[in-house]
Amino acid sequence: MISTWSFPTRILHGEGAVELVGAEARSLGGRRALIVTDPGVRAAGLLTRIEASLDAAGIAYEVFDGVSSNPLEAEALSGAAAFRDAGADMILGVGGGSPLDVSKLVRLLAAHRPPLEQYDDARGGAEKITEPMPPLVTIPTTAGTGSEVGRSAVVTIQATNKKTVIFSPRLLADVAILDPELTLGMPPHITAATGMDALTHCFEAYCAKGHHPMADAIALAGLELAGRHLERAFRDGNDVEARSAMLEASMMGAVAFQKGLGACHSMAHPLSTEFGIHHGLANALCLPSVIEFNRVVAQARIARAARALGVRESDVETLAFECAGAVRKLRQTLGLPGGLAEVGVPEEALPRLAELAFEDPCHANNPRACTVDDFLSLYKSAY
Ligand SMILES: NC(=O)c1ccc[n+]([C@@H]2O[C@H](COP(=O)([O-])OP(=O)(O)OC[C@H]3O[C@@H](n4cnc5c(N)ncnc54)[C@H](O)[C@@H]3O)[C@@H](O)[C@H]2O)c1
Ligand SMILES: [Fe+2]
Repeated sequence: MISTWSFPTRILHGEGAVELVGAEARSLGGRRALIVTDPGVRAAGLLTRIEASLDAAGIAYEVFDGVSSNPLEAEALSGAAAFRDAGADMILGVGGGSPLDVSKLVRLLAAHRPPLEQYDDARGGAEKITEPMPPLVTIPTTAGTGSEVGRSAVVTIQATNKKTVIFSPRLLADVAILDPELTLGMPPHITAATGMDALTHCFEAYCAKGHHPMADAIALAGLELAGRHLERAFRDGNDVEARSAMLEASMMGAVAFQKGLGACHSMAHPLSTEFGIHHGLANALCLPSVIEFNRVVAQARIARAARALGVRESDVETLAFECAGAVRKLRQTLGLPGGLAEVGVPEEALPRLAELAFEDPCHANNPRACTVDDFLSLYKSAY
């Protein structure tokens, strides 16, 4: 079998890196940018330094902030209309995963026709993403999705009401700017939930099927960074070293999951579309059950992951056994709910959720094959 390994994004990382955005936009040939963001990011004042840098570089800009958490197809279409109305020639995605994903979709729609359903990765949509697209710079303000370096955009498609992954290497940002100062003001509950998304990406990528030694190494190192710094960033939002490490872990998780994700993401997606649960929180609720389910086929990897998360046991079997408990303990330390019942999911919804999780493509890479019945048991165990 032939594998494809690719690490192409230019990444600028460090305190104050955001001030380079004007120069970067210029070197990409931009003259008029559309900033794609959300109202929370705007209200937190996170655009100020970006706008100043664009002003200094002589780049005109307009702001589109019509993105919600768990973005909808209609929002991407509005963003694309804003891009056209502004006469923009490049896109700056600024925010958490939601605005960053929409920034990629605006880029896609700048050169491709709607509806978005036709680009669904699960239906071979990547092949339809062929036209040259405007440049894209991504600037994360959460440390979770790693969407700034990812090849995918997740969007709820109108026709199906399903979280749908649109994937193409052509959607990769030209430049990602990682500035920990932009994440300092993130409230503790968002720090916790987004951080658990980053941790889950590293975990699932490391355990995913497939041969990708580079992604494995990055995932394991990212897991270690998240294990050491997530609690610190949660306890003291101004701990810039912890914020910086979490941005690295988040970015590394997304670089690593080019290898694939797993059953936890398949379980998380319907929890967001059916019940509006934040994506990172949904992963945090499901991950320990998935670790227990996968342990019979991936003991050695789960043991290494446990060690990266700080579990101190010597033999592989005990390490793997302790892993799910360590994630549950971290979840509790971060003040996150401990089960689906606590976030208001009714028990009678579990069979339907199991069907939807089974239809989600992420579990194709899970180390252990999952049936609908397995997903039902997994949801019950996460309840
Ligand atoms: N593209 C991918 O590969 C990928 C991977 C995982 C998740 N996702 C998607 O990403 C989305 C979730 O992204 P997210 O977890 O980053 O959350 P988000 O982008 O939805 O943001 C959550 C909230 O945090 C606020 N916020 C963001 N940065 C802030 C800051 N610095 N200070 C204060 N408030 C801030 C936002 O305004 C918003 O209200 C989901 O739609 C999920 O499906 C995409
Ligand atoms: Fe995720």
